[in-house]
Amino acid sequence: MDQPLRVGVAGLGTVGASVVRILSRRENALGRAGRGVRLVAVSSRTRNRDRGIDIERCAWFDDPVALARSSELDCFVELIGGSDGVAKAAVEAALESGKHVVTANKALLAAHGLDLARLAEKNGVALAFEASAAGGIPIVKTLREALAGNEITRVSGILNGTCNYILSRMEHEGLSFEDCLADAQRLGYAEADPTFDVGGFDTAHKLSILASLAFGTEIDADAIYVEGISSITPLDLKMADDLGFRIKLLGVAERNKSGIEQRVHPTMVPKDSAIAQVMGVTNAVTIDADAVGEITLVGPGAGGDATASAVVADIADVARGRFGAPFGLPIARLEKMKRAPMQRHEGGYYVRLSVLDRPGAAAAIATRLAQADISLESIVQRRAEGPVHDDPEQRSLRAVPVVLTTYATSETAIRAALDKVSADGHITEPPQLIRIERE
Ligand code: HSE
Repeated sequence: MDQPLRVGVAGLGTVGASVVRILSRRENALGRAGRGVRLVAVSSRTRNRDRGIDIERCAWFDDPVALARSSELDCFVELIGGSDGVAKAAVEAALESGKHVVTANKALLAAHGLDLARLAEKNGVALAFEASAAGGIPIVKTLREALAGNEITRVSGILNGTCNYILSRMEHEGLSFEDCLADAQRLGYAEADPTFDVGGFDTAHKLSILASLAFGTEIDADAIYVEGISSITPLDLKMADDLGFRIKLLGVAERNKSGIEQRVHPTMVPKDSAIAQVMGVTNAVTIDADAVGEITLVGPGAGGDATASAVVADIADVARGRFGAPFGLPIARLEKMKRAPMQRHEGGYYVRLSVLDRPGAAAAIATRLAQADISLESIVQRRAEGPVHDDPEQRSLRAVPVVLTTYATSETAIRAALDKVSADGHITEPPQLIRIERE
């Protein structure tokens, strides 16, 4: 019988503590499936904290890099987080000293995934990262292994539980953005720095990993167009509802004629679409592939136990000796990402303008759009709040919301038209622009 795989865990936050708990609960089952797994050492910032886990029998390391180098380990589990600093140093130390690495660190992979995969390849060890994208959903395995017989054309979805939780609660309970974010932090969904979540960067990190796996390309997070959700107002959510849409933060990577388009932004999706039904902290990833068609995986995208479930699956794979090239192909065979510029993106748009309530303003806006060959699908003007002024002078000082949706046009055309609308002086705030996805 093989000796158990000796595991060291660095980072005992929400996910780390759950990993320790699950390893202990599943010890026998993991052993029955082949080589057993034994947690032998841990490292974290504070030693004397009650985490509700039993680490009495484990060696304690103050320094995660020392843990990563320890000859007492076969597999180093990195749950520290952050794209650089100690997480990167520890993962490099583990790989260089011939240890398998399991990590949930999407920021690290987005920034250095290619170099780390090269290091793993050179040392003949695993670099496993199922937990880095979409929490508990086994999306990495699905793309890398289960769909090997397919050419993948598009990967898209809701990849950040915090944003989906915030948008869902703002929509249903009319709560403020700040209150919803505070709750997400309290529940352990948000990143240490929540601007990663609400700014769209966490989604972008995950998307960069999925795009590399889907298209066999070198990871290129810098090529991703990113917009977050902090500009979404209750009025946008209400207008979306009136127009038959919901607003979701989507990550989309797709092959088109100019290359691979990677983008993260709030998106209007039809209320009756499958993606619109995904609420709260749940994530969903849809893959379009030539042989199998369309597949959607839905599940918990954040939270300790859900993410730890993916970490433990990777540890079990390492124990059974089941690992290959981290991104599915040897490094030398990954293609360079050919970036499709966002300006060439084509689709429908929702535009909300704050328009001065005076004759000809709406007509001037419609004219600017018509001049850019943009066809309007709908246009709604809301009456001003408060009493109606009889005096046109008084009225013309107030701004009223005008919301329009367009048929498919290009990013360049809509941006240029809105620049002209702004220059015409009829609007009082920068336009709100939200892309529409109808599929
Ligand atoms: N902050 C992340 C989220 C956690 O909200 O989805 C999982 O990566």
